[in-house]
Amino acid sequence: MTAENLPLKPFSALRVYEQDAGVRAAIETISIDDLSAGEVVVRVAWSSLNYKDALAITGRGRILRGSPRIPGVDLAGHVVASGDARLKPGDAVVATGYELGMSHDGGLAEYARLPADWVVPLPAGLSLHKSMMLGTAGFTAGLAISRLEQLDLAPANGPVVVTGASGGVSMVVIDQLAQLGYEVVAITSKPDQVEPLRALGASEVLLRDQVEMGRKPMEKARFAAAFDSVGGETLAWLTRVMQQRGLIAAYGNASGTDLVTTVFPFILRGVALVGIDSAATAMPQRMRVWQRLAADLRPRHLASMSQEISLDGVVGACEAIVAGRHSGRSVVRLAGG
Ligand SMILES: NC(=O)c1ccc[n+]([C@@H]2O[C@H](COP(=O)([O-])OP(=O)(O)OC[C@H]3O[C@@H](n4cnc5c(N)ncnc54)[C@H](OP(=O)(O)O)[C@@H]3O)[C@@H](O)[C@H]2O)c1
Repeated sequence: MTAENLPLKPFSALRVYEQDAGVRAAIETISIDDLSAGEVVVRVAWSSLNYKDALAITGRGRILRGSPRIPGVDLAGHVVASGDARLKPGDAVVATGYELGMSHDGGLAEYARLPADWVVPLPAGLSLHKSMMLGTAGFTAGLAISRLEQLDLAPANGPVVVTGASGGVSMVVIDQLAQLGYEVVAITSKPDQVEPLRALGASEVLLRDQVEMGRKPMEKARFAAAFDSVGGETLAWLTRVMQQRGLIAAYGNASGTDLVTTVFPFILRGVALVGIDSAATAMPQRMRVWQRLAADLRPRHLASMSQEISLDGVVGACEAIVAGRHSGRSVVRLAGG
């Protein structure tokens, strides 16, 4: 049976309309023909919220292409119809990134239709629910660690700093690094997150407004590696405080997009600045990272860093994310299970 001839009852979807005055998000009843085209139809069990979804749903960032559009860069569920030989009805699958929730309808609906090339079989050892506790955040965390390991990141190199520490990506990074044996220094703006971050495995938690970032082209070398979700002045500071051959994974811009630094950290300390682009990760590497997320990079504290919400809680959660009031992962129940 192909996706095109599948009979389905109307179902619920969150749709965002672009308007002159901004965006309007509404839960609507739609049919399969309203979805973007693709060879595979998935009954969505769970989705999750990421910073990009919050920008799209609140209109704070220009993420969506097309209106109305179903946001949601993540989804996990069961295939109900497939026009591609690699996937068959009943298969449990995960999809994150690519154009999902941008120019292609995403995961915040009871059904999704998408290209087969974007679909990852659920790795053995992960439930659909856990795969969305991870979602793009967990995938980005695993990708960032894998990329730095290719440049010889190892626990013996020295302490590793993680910024925006109470955010989804960074919480997963902290959990993963701690269980791999790294000494992790977390930086957060939220005093009430100090103890939860220690519980994840951070050996030291610094409050952002107490970190003296200085202005010199180079500061005292402190960290062997950095995982940054913040960008802006914080990322510039990180370049100045890395040890010789220090490694920085830059995956976010929660505080800004500018990067003002000098060449000195790069030519005098051999610092490497590695950009992390989870949405565009090619399928072979994507599969390898998902396999590791079910094995040695499987976080130990996923449940305590995640909260479950329903489709009608999505807009409120997104407002909290853009206001910096959110912590951890919000997992969205669709069919559940
Ligand atoms: N490159 C990729 O492939 C990729 C994939 C996923 C996400 N991202 C990006 O990574 C970043 C984090 O994503 P996320 O899903 O983890 O978001 P999130 O859960 O909302 O976390 C962002 C965290 O950044 C910190 N923060 C927020 N506003 C800030 C500000 N003005 N100044 C400094 N810190 C601020 C906060 O942590 P504290 O309060 O603890 O400091 C917040 O919890 C976002 O920029 C997102 O777009 C990139």
